[in-house]
Amino acid sequence: MKSVIRTAAGGPEVLKLVERPVPEPGPGEVRGRMHVSGVNPTDWRSRRRPLPSEMSEQVPHQDGAGVIDAVGPQVDPARAGQRVWIWEAAWERPWGTAQQYTLVPDQQAVALPDHAPFELGAALGIPALTAHRALTVHDGGPGRIAPGTLGGTTVLVAGGAGVVGNAAIQLARWAGARVITTVSSPAKAALAHAAGAHRVVDYRTQDAAAEILAFAPEGVDIFVEVAPGANAALDVAVAARGAVVAYYSGGEGEQLSVPVLSSLPANLRWQSVFIYTVRPAAKQQAVCDVAAAVSAGALRVGEEAGLPLHRFPLERTADAHAALEQGVVGKVLLDIP
Ligand SMILES: NC(=O)c1ccc[n+]([C@@H]2O[C@H](COP(=O)([O-])OP(=O)(O)OC[C@H]3O[C@@H](n4cnc5c(N)ncnc54)[C@H](OP(=O)(O)O)[C@@H]3O)[C@@H](O)[C@H]2O)c1
Repeated sequence: MKSVIRTAAGGPEVLKLVERPVPEPGPGEVRGRMHVSGVNPTDWRSRRRPLPSEMSEQVPHQDGAGVIDAVGPQVDPARAGQRVWIWEAAWERPWGTAQQYTLVPDQQAVALPDHAPFELGAALGIPALTAHRALTVHDGGPGRIAPGTLGGTTVLVAGGAGVVGNAAIQLARWAGARVITTVSSPAKAALAHAAGAHRVVDYRTQDAAAEILAFAPEGVDIFVEVAPGANAALDVAVAARGAVVAYYSGGEGEQLSVPVLSSLPANLRWQSVFIYTVRPAAKQQAVCDVAAAVSAGALRVGEEAGLPLHRFPLERTADAHAALEQGVVGKVLLDIP
């Protein structure tokens, strides 16, 4: 089978297309015949780091979609033939999704309904699970995303044209929240509107705090924050009482500096989100809710959903990484032959 591997740390050029034997699933594993592999920033960031000491090579990419074609011992044989989306395939394992067949633990291959295309399935994992986590860490919230669970809640998604931002807007809307988002250009504003945001604020040209409070005078309850260092003062200025800033990203060396006195009255909570190490029960809840959102047609991809797709063939995985690293707007996918 065709696999993309890396044996060293470095730029996109360390990714090599090679032939490898089709692997056999072990106990508790399924084998997925991959159709689409999803590429995330975590994939190029980890490519720049050394391999874990126990691995001599690794196939990149956490997310993907395909069809289960074999199951190992202790797995329901009826799963063979099931369309699935796959999450965290390459987390502490050598088997990513940038290859024709991959192995994952049974629970990391989730049924994908017939109406959901593989390109949607491959775009779910990291972005949708991260967005779910950020939207469910509110103190006293139901911890679930489903119709009505965020009713009466105001959500601010920083960077609504980003991939995680797009998933957060769609999930928050499905859950009944009022959704505000910030962007940096008219083109990104159009994407955030297409994703379903009620109010889009251009943080470069508008007074973001004034615009947000004009739309939501009682303030923001949940922040899905991509740039906590840059946005801390804005978040404090528009926070409702009991709000949570769920931050999932930050630049190299970025520091979070919080105005203490002005954030005290809100009982404001700063909550980091790192999807790989979220406790298993919460992660499983996220998987379950995201699967339900897909079944309900509440999560979509493509320009019309605010998430342009950029597709590359497997042999151009290095170009896909380079595009993402250079800041392409939208979702980068690999088509697996
Ligand atoms: N912790 C986790 O578990 C986790 C999970 C997923 C992703 N991540 C990380 O999260 C980051 C985003 O991932 P992604 O896939 O969504 O990337 P992306 O598609 O490139 O989106 C990033 C977005 O952030 C926006 N942004 C940057 N600075 C901003 C600011 N000051 N205010 C508002 N928006 C701002 C960007 O737009 P403008 O520059 O135009 O504003 C862009 O739309 C990456 O660094 C990724 O590694 C972490």
